[in-house]
Amino acid sequence: MNIPTIIPLFLSLLLLFPPLAICDERQRTYIVYLGSHTQQYTPDQILETHHSCLTSVKDSEEEARASLIYSYRHSINGFAASLTPQQASKLNELEEVVAVIESRPRKYSTHTTRSWEFSGLNLAAGYDVAESMKKETTMAEAGDLLHRAGYGKSLIVGILDSGVWPEAESFSDEGMEAVPKSWKGICQTGQEFNSSHCNKKIIGARYYIKGFETYYGRLDATEDYRSPRDKDGHGTHTAATFAGRQVRNASALGGFARGTASGGAPLARLAVYKKIGGNTCFDEDMLAAMDDAIADGVQVISISIGADEPLSPVNDSLSIGALHAARKNVVVVCSGGNDGPTPGTVVNTPPWILTVGASNMDRGFLGTVVLGNGQTVTHHKLPKRLPLISAADAALPWVPDNETDQCLPDSLAPEKVRGKIVVCLRGSGTRFLKGVEVKRAGGVGFILANTAALGDDVFLEPHVLPTTAVTYDETREIVRYIRSAKGNATARLREPRTVLGYKAAPFMAAFSSQGPNVIHPYILKPDVAAPGVNILAAWSEASPPTKLSEDRRSVKYNFDSGTSMACPHVAALAALLKAIHPTWSSAAIRSAIMTTASTRNNKGKTITDERGHTATPFQFGSGQFRPSKAADPGLVYDASYTDYLLYLCSYGLKNAGERFNCPRFPPPMYDLNYPSVSVPKLNGTLTIKRSVTNVGGDGNAVYFFSAKPPLGMTVTARPSVLFFSRVGERKEFTLTIEARDLKETKEYYGGGGYRFGWYSWRDNYHVVRSPIAVSMG
Ligand SMILES: *[C@@H]1O[C@H](CO)[C@@H](O)[C@H](O)[C@H]1NC(C)=O
Ligand SMILES: *[C@@H]1O[C@H](CO)[C@@H](O)[C@H](O)[C@H]1NC(C)=O
Ligand SMILES: *[C@@H]1O[C@H](CO)[C@@H](O)[C@H](O)[C@H]1NC(C)=O
Ligand SMILES: *[C@@H]1O[C@H](CO)[C@@H](O)[C@H](O)[C@H]1NC(C)=O
Ligand SMILES: *[C@@H]1O[C@H](CO)[C@@H](O)[C@H](O)[C@H]1NC(C)=O
Ligand SMILES: *[C@@H]1O[C@H](CO)[C@@H](O)[C@H](O)[C@H]1NC(C)=O
Repeated sequence: MNIPTIIPLFLSLLLLFPPLAICDERQRTYIVYLGSHTQQYTPDQILETHHSCLTSVKDSEEEARASLIYSYRHSINGFAASLTPQQASKLNELEEVVAVIESRPRKYSTHTTRSWEFSGLNLAAGYDVAESMKKETTMAEAGDLLHRAGYGKSLIVGILDSGVWPEAESFSDEGMEAVPKSWKGICQTGQEFNSSHCNKKIIGARYYIKGFETYYGRLDATEDYRSPRDKDGHGTHTAATFAGRQVRNASALGGFARGTASGGAPLARLAVYKKIGGNTCFDEDMLAAMDDAIADGVQVISISIGADEPLSPVNDSLSIGALHAARKNVVVVCSGGNDGPTPGTVVNTPPWILTVGASNMDRGFLGTVVLGNGQTVTHHKLPKRLPLISAADAALPWVPDNETDQCLPDSLAPEKVRGKIVVCLRGSGTRFLKGVEVKRAGGVGFILANTAALGDDVFLEPHVLPTTAVTYDETREIVRYIRSAKGNATARLREPRTVLGYKAAPFMAAFSSQGPNVIHPYILKPDVAAPGVNILAAWSEASPPTKLSEDRRSVKYNFDSGTSMACPHVAALAALLKAIHPTWSSAAIRSAIMTTASTRNNKGKTITDERGHTATPFQFGSGQFRPSKAADPGLVYDASYTDYLLYLCSYGLKNAGERFNCPRFPPPMYDLNYPSVSVPKLNGTLTIKRSVTNVGGDGNAVYFFSAKPPLGMTVTARPSVLFFSRVGERKEFTLTIEARDLKETKEYYGGGGYRFGWYSWRDNYHVVRSPIAVSMG
């Protein structure tokens, strides 16, 4: 080849590939996903195949070894490595590679509402999960759920979160039996965490830092512990809610609230998987944690973490990890997110994950504001009558008009606030920082007042000074009183007390993320709702209760709210069910929890939101979980790992699970045997398939169909009566959803709006209920 021909070729190459692409030698982290392990290889052999895969794109074997970050060797087959984009796309072309995912420091928030006002929030408190499960159960025919489940003592449960504070009383192993033989995990030691921090309660602990450090460099020792120890509080709180032991007379908020703190499966064995990075998580770290958890023998995993937006299944490490868990029959329970009430925000939504929304309970420790005019409004103790002032009357002159009532940082005039109780409106800024501002300006207490939009969305929280949070109705009373008192208003914050049955409950938390499911439109999400507001549980003593640097307190227990808190409630129930029914699949356990959930509140009406509006299955899924009913659902909608792979074929992700030969005509997605029904863009009529397996009583049963169709629709089943003669018998049926008058119904439904209904199978004892969501195309 002579020179003149080389030059034009080189130039045209430059035009085809922008120079950046040619020169981009920067290494990033990629997950190279190879599906499942199809043969029995030893971990060393697997590591070798990962190395040789890498060597095919690297210059040398040494370089290949050095670039490997994780090798997933147990259930998940794949690895994480530092690669250039070119190397990554070369690997993506290999036949054995299912997907190559670029890892970025994704915002994976832990699903608590602690941080920002816009994530909204609510009320009730001092909640003893185990006690409440027991109470409900003694009233139910199902008998004593906790007793039947041996309080979960045979179960190994895992939590993927910010670690654990092992000294918390909730994790005492006093009186516990030997660790189950099925346990294969380890107690990984590190900074302030040695082998004696594991015991018969915390049977294992690990931490995952390689993805974090590859990106950010070495972890700053003041930011987090290089060990399973929790610096944040979130992981300790969720672990204690899931499987903490009963601690009586636990106290939070500086002694203000006392109650029993207990997990839902108080004798279950806890395995802790800590991801490092606060609100930023790395896919490769989480995938490594899940791969280990599955291999360690964990039976139920609770994950109160999620991407800050719904992710496609090819990019969603939690979805991939959970699919592998489903293959091993491990139940994965995740929080649905705190981005409500915006529709379409729910995350962690594949059909192999049990997705949880958050609701409020009917009980709380409410303090009382006693206004100077004798009226009482509903929390913190300030027994002396003190002057009361609205923030709007105490704002500094340069504060914009629309923000004077908000108590934003540096907005209050000390001379107007000193010694007073200040009324701060919610709307912008964080709730905790409003308290910090009142304190800075010399106020002695504050009232956190709701706007109309926030309604009854009230929280019990560890503010830095005496505080009470009030509903919108109460806010109006207070504002009216301050006006009428013309500068002489006073108030005191009375001793808090426990209030039961105080409102129609449960009601949905405004922050709880909502459907429709934008990633899996034929799967209705969230699946169920559980208490997620003002939950009392153990906390990290290294983290102030507000997590603010201004806050120097250290506490053993704390209140927290979020779908993060709801998730371990449902995970605990899943563990108890697994103890009672060890042979049930993870799909059967999910089904039992969903079909026995309730859509009614304690007033017999449909569960509402925080403003009193009727809530929908896009908020509560199948309804509020009912531990007392879930052990005896009558029928279950079962599904296998293969069903999920077929679903993925239909979804268009050939090989998403593993190297699986998709049939030419896989069953449509809506035929996945899910315990709820979601039909986007119905064009007149649709018939879907389902099957139910008899798990009730002595095996003889007759179930009758009934339905409440979405408006303008009919819903019919064929057959409409199901006869069973033995336990384990499976019966198929079809469900036809049809618009009564296509044109009229379409108009009524408008563009893409969803309407809801339900259907059920019932015998003399059981009601097996499924919600239906339909939109018209
Ligand atoms: C582990 O650390 C604790 C202090 O946190 C100490 O009392 C204990 O002796 C240590 N145990 C071992 C095995 O090093
Ligand atoms: C609870 O603990 C506090 C101090 O921590 C103590 O004063 C109180 O008597 C205890 N109450 C009960 C019922 O044990
Ligand atoms: C996956 O994430 C990458 C960025 O990391 C993005 O470019 C791609 O579009 C995503 N894929 C899907 C299917 O969402
Ligand atoms: C007040 O108005 C300004 C300017 O219009 C806006 O940026 C700010 O977000 C508003 N604040 C609130 C609390 O609405
Ligand atoms: C406020 O208090 C002052 C002094 O006690 C009194 O003179 C005045 O009448 C009071 N105003 C109202 C509206 O009660
Ligand atoms: C809806 O159904 C009608 C008649 O059944 C058919 O003509 C039309 O093409 C369908 N529309 C879509 C979007 O499938």
